Amino acid sequence: MGKKELDYVSDTIRSTFVSSNGEYINKLEQHVEKFTRSSRAVATVNGTSALHACLYLSGVRRNDLVITQALTFVATCNAIRLAGAEPILLDVSLNGLGLCSRSLEEYLEEYAYLEGQTCRHKLTKQCIKAVVPMHTFGHPVDLDEILRICEKWCINLIEDAAESLGSFYKERHTGTYSQFSAMSFNGNKIITTGGGGMILCDSVENGDLARHVTTTSKQSHDFEFFHDQFGFNYRMPNLNAALGCAQIEKIEFYIESKRKIANEYENVCLKTDFQFIKEPSYARSNYWINGVVCENRISRDLFIRECLDSDILVRPVWQLMHTLPMYKDALKGDLSTSEWLVDRIVNLPSTPILEGRYG
Ligand SMILES: Cc1ncc(COP(=O)(O)O)c(C=O)c1O
Repeated sequence: MGKKELDYVSDTIRSTFVSSNGEYINKLEQHVEKFTRSSRAVATVNGTSALHACLYLSGVRRNDLVITQALTFVATCNAIRLAGAEPILLDVSLNGLGLCSRSLEEYLEEYAYLEGQTCRHKLTKQCIKAVVPMHTFGHPVDLDEILRICEKWCINLIEDAAESLGSFYKERHTGTYSQFSAMSFNGNKIITTGGGGMILCDSVENGDLARHVTTTSKQSHDFEFFHDQFGFNYRMPNLNAALGCAQIEKIEFYIESKRKIANEYENVCLKTDFQFIKEPSYARSNYWINGVVCENRISRDLFIRECLDSDILVRPVWQLMHTLPMYKDALKGDLSTSEWLVDRIVNLPSTPILEGRYG
């Protein structure tokens, strides 16, 4: 946090516009639109609510199925459950750690069929409505392949881009390949609004709809309260957006610093048995959080223990979703790569220290 953050937040308090109306919210949305080149960005209270709204806006309803990866942060599955649907958990790719397109294609070939434009699961007959790949640690998934498979099977793509502000798949920013995709500005992300999120939309019309539905679907009127459809109270407060406006002005610096840190880790790893987790060759990652792959679970635990004893905050990756009690009965594919990785990944400290003009 620097002086700008203090100035903008103080300005919001002085203005009294601390809640769901205010100029900083619009400014932050415009910043994100410009930076990601998305048609519309709609600010929300957090990334989970952004993803929930994306699922809702993409037509996901009660009893639908939504495909995602087993190796993700729990919020991905929680948003699917919030939308009334159930996750199908598939494997990740060793290249970038996101949803594996081959696993996706093989699972659909074996377990799905098309009924007109509706994709259904052969065993449960439920509708498979969406695929939610997650750009793990900021590394983009292979979007072209995933999009091709989604089109073939008439399934909506929704990117969980919570971790990937500043990451590009080929020439385009992550989150701009779907009709709706979700970002997070939680305190641990590359920029923060305290708590906050953003929906990226592929058109102005979808942006208007996302804004409407996330602000209780209230029709604009001088005095009447008329809500024309079901909606959410998910609008980001101006107070949080003020913090975000100060932070996003430094986004290029953060990305550059993160990539520099990654480069240093990579060079160190060359002299060790640790395998540094690199961006896929087709992508430019924000390297939100760095990670290494250890030889086995024993060396992972030893490494974590030694680091923690030296006050270096490292940690293992998340546990796989089907090993958590609430998702233990989820449908799933072969998860051998995810299971192999979960025993070996250690995440490393990745936050740049701000100095000089940003300190
Ligand atoms: C992959 C993923 N999805 C969703 C979220 C949810 O974001 P939030 O914590 O802002 O609700 C996060 C981050 O916290 C995340 O890492």
